[in-house]
Amino acid sequence: MLQLHGINAHYGKLHVLHDFSLSIRDGERVGIFGHNGAGKTTLLRACVGDLDECQGRVSYRGQDLAPGEAHRNVVHGMGFVPQGHNVFRDLSVAENLEIAGLRNAQQALGEVYALFPLLQERTQQIASSLSGGQQQMLALGMALMTRPSILLLDEPTIGLAPVIVRDVLRSVTQINRTKGTTLVIVEQNVQATLENVDRAVVIKSGRIIFDGASSELLAQESLWELF
Ligand SMILES: Nc1ncnc2c1ncn2[C@@H]1O[C@H](COP(=O)(O)OP(=O)(O)OP(=O)(O)O)[C@@H](O)[C@H]1O
Ligand SMILES: [Mg+2]
Repeated sequence: MLQLHGINAHYGKLHVLHDFSLSIRDGERVGIFGHNGAGKTTLLRACVGDLDECQGRVSYRGQDLAPGEAHRNVVHGMGFVPQGHNVFRDLSVAENLEIAGLRNAQQALGEVYALFPLLQERTQQIASSLSGGQQQMLALGMALMTRPSILLLDEPTIGLAPVIVRDVLRSVTQINRTKGTTLVIVEQNVQATLENVDRAVVIKSGRIIFDGASSELLAQESLWELF
């Protein structure tokens, strides 16, 4: 279980997350939605301890996570793929995966290649020459090299063509199905994501305005006006 309790996050004078509480069970697949600037990225950064000004309590599997200790929280089993370009562009596919691996690197590498056979076909290809979707696969693969029990993804399909969007989201869902990995996915592609998660959380101005079954949001498009 990942638990956030009474989180207040600031950037200087800007108060972004307001007394924010959320619990996510092991194995759950949660989509986080909301307008630009709503606080989605800030929420993921709070979860992994990547914020300087964050009050409140974050715990994962019963252990309190210290703010500003994102690197240590990887060891607790948290995998975080930040928004944007997340690969070392000048290194090959294999070198990127190698750098990302902490422990059990060989076994993890086998798992990543089994999930994304394309990466195994392209081990020597320089990351910057991969397509956008392939780079996202590599970024996901890098996060998986730490064998996380929870994966937090910030807009993993940004800038991708609709058919690739579904491919990436399906790969992520497969990780959940085969390994039981908890998923927390921030996405702008609302419909495609709702088809791949169990629960939807909608954020507005740093507060939760909807938290329920993804099927409920899918069935009632009128609710999409929330965001
Ligand atoms: N490092 C920072 N310094 C100052 N302000 C920031 C910083 N990061 C984010 N903000 C501000 O905090 C608010 C929330 O930003 P956040 O990145 O969490 O939004 P978001 O929901 O992820 O938006 P988007 O959909 O555009 O990615 C915004 O008003 C943003 O301008
Ligand atoms: Mg963001």
